Amino acid sequence: MVKLHVNVDHVATLREARKTSEPDPVYAALIAEQAGAAGITAHLREDRRHIQDRDIRLLREMVQTRLNLEMGATDEMVGIALKQRPDLCTLVPEKRQEVTTEGGLDLVGNKTTLGPKIKELKAAGIRVSLFIDPAPEQIACARDLGADDIEMHTGEYANAKNAAAQAKELARLVKGAKLGGSMGLGINAGHGLTYFNIGPIAALVGLAELNIGHSIMARAFYVGVAQAVKEMIGLIEKYQA
Ligand code: PXP
Repeated sequence: MVKLHVNVDHVATLREARKTSEPDPVYAALIAEQAGAAGITAHLREDRRHIQDRDIRLLREMVQTRLNLEMGATDEMVGIALKQRPDLCTLVPEKRQEVTTEGGLDLVGNKTTLGPKIKELKAAGIRVSLFIDPAPEQIACARDLGADDIEMHTGEYANAKNAAAQAKELARLVKGAKLGGSMGLGINAGHGLTYFNIGPIAALVGLAELNIGHSIMARAFYVGVAQAVKEMIGLIEKYQA
């Protein structure tokens, strides 16, 4: 069964637009869990543009399923992870100017800086996932670095300009899932997934978890968080391999 982790960053984005206390991503997370989400994902960015330190503290206290902390591989973030002890840490690249995470981590080019951070997290008993493009050399590097999981970046698939480009990217994701699975890595995926493009991704053989945020929270604006989460779970169940 492919598990849905709901990303609550977008709730915090709305709150931070007014620097007020609502809507609260922690409240949204609890509703998402009640509606069947298998986990909650939150990205604590260096610039704190949406999720705040307080959110991670409260999510850690309140989330009953699994908490996936997305973060850049910096000393500050590793320190926070060691203190808050999420169930899973997903390391992502972070650029100040980007609107959202734009691509996967370059593991091959950053092996020496990432290696010690991954070791530190794992030594503390935290599972580590690496957000990467589904390129064979990156997947092999994730294995070499001792990651537990990879999260394949689905942004290229989601943003493909036409059906041929989308099919090409899907084929890369299918191959990536197969290769990662054969190396003993857990296979997750996420970024840019919607109610309309989820089908072929949910059907990826070997897929364990999906991280979806924006589309669910956009739909929640009209139908509520619980209904939006249930609808996405329904689609994942319908299409999964
Ligand atoms: N996975 C990762 C690593 C991300 O950075 C994000 C965006 O925060 C997501 C999944 C979720 O993407 P979206 O909000 O487009 O569903």
